[in-house]
Amino acid sequence: VTIKITDRDGVKHEVQAPTDMSMNIMEVVRAYELAPEGTIGVCGGMAMCASCQCYVLNDVELPEMGPDEDAMLAEAFYVKPNSRLGCQIPVTEDLEGLEIELAPES
Ligand code: FES
Repeated sequence: VTIKITDRDGVKHEVQAPTDMSMNIMEVVRAYELAPEGTIGVCGGMAMCASCQCYVLNDVELPEMGPDEDAMLAEAFYVKPNSRLGCQIPVTEDLEGLEIELAPES
């Protein structure tokens, strides 16, 4: 699926994310090297670091937030109403056209 990702420098990228590799958004950002190594995915995708926080910019339907993600975002920095943890969003066909922006490094 095609996903638009604005990196932390404000540069927009359009990437192709595979739906058949059990990837999540955080892993897509890493695979395309859109954030420096060590600044995203710090906890390995366990919803325990918020380094994968991103802002959802359009109304593509995403999976409901689970309790771990909700709790992590309650204590993270730079949180906005449209914040999600990229590691908690699996890449599926439903994400076609999704637009996100990476939250600042924290
Ligand atoms: Fe740590 Fe997503 S990678 S919360």
